[in-house]
Amino acid sequence: MKSKILIIGACGQIGSELTFKLRQLYGHDQVIASDISYSNLDIVNSGIFEIVDAQNYASVKVCVEKYGIDTIYLMAAMLSATGEKFPMKAWDLNMQSLFHVLNLARAKFIKKVFWPSSIAVFGPTTPKEYTPQYTVMEPSTVYGITKQVGERWCEYYHNKYGVDVRSLRYPGIISWKTLPGGGTTDYAVEIYHKAITDGFYDCFLSEKTELPMMFMDDAIKATVDIMAASNDAIKIRSSYNLAAISFTPHEVAESIKTHLPDFRISYTPDYRQDIADSWPKSINDAYARQDWKWKHAFKLEDITKEMLLQLNKKYSAALKEFN
Ligand code: SER
Repeated sequence: MKSKILIIGACGQIGSELTFKLRQLYGHDQVIASDISYSNLDIVNSGIFEIVDAQNYASVKVCVEKYGIDTIYLMAAMLSATGEKFPMKAWDLNMQSLFHVLNLARAKFIKKVFWPSSIAVFGPTTPKEYTPQYTVMEPSTVYGITKQVGERWCEYYHNKYGVDVRSLRYPGIISWKTLPGGGTTDYAVEIYHKAITDGFYDCFLSEKTELPMMFMDDAIKATVDIMAASNDAIKIRSSYNLAAISFTPHEVAESIKTHLPDFRISYTPDYRQDIADSWPKSINDAYARQDWKWKHAFKLEDITKEMLLQLNKKYSAALKEFN
């Protein structure tokens, strides 16, 4: 039987691209997109779309029953920077939504769950270089706390109730289709937009802040692959370390300059600097590479080329429409 998939948070940066990819792979009508509002018209108009409140168990369950859903990708979350402004809201959204989905799986309404974790599970006491899977984890952001606690619950639900839950610790994700919102790694997307529109970017992190990053296509591939892997291959039920590349704002600016020599950057670190400073610089993802054969494809120069090409097209098209 073909699997019926529900994506919660389908209007967001990762959810939107995941929706398109899963529809392409598993059939257009097999994938139901949902979000709390109609905030991304490309998604809303692209196929079956439902308003679902991830914080409301009944709202999720009604949708699951309506379409006979067996697999949920829970992509709704409040990210690190916004989470510091609204700590209780971040806690409530990130935890309640996870419990609702895990409880639906425990009660056998659904069979399989994907839930993203993050490099934010690590903290200032974690080794920063090539951070191992198993290490000190004392996250200092509310977002990181929700992700770490969430990981513990995922593993618990798997061990105690046999829930098939799979998870990845995403690094910063770079993409051009849908903007990220409220994250600390968002600078690595904004910088490309500003390079095209203004030729200048004032970065909210310092020039030497190195963070783990990944192109969207790689992130989607990892997500699809871990969900398609056989049950036995998935040895870690908390969340897998996942890595591609690491760079600093200075390095991404230099790579933009190879295409746009006049591009300029300045640095005005704000409260997000402290968040970035608490995270690893690079990640050891040997378990993912070993257990389900993870491999990334995009390096910084590939990402820069693709981002500038696609954003150039996007802004030129918008300009034509305006004129
Ligand atoms: N991209 C996220 C953030 O910056 C990290 O998972 O909050």
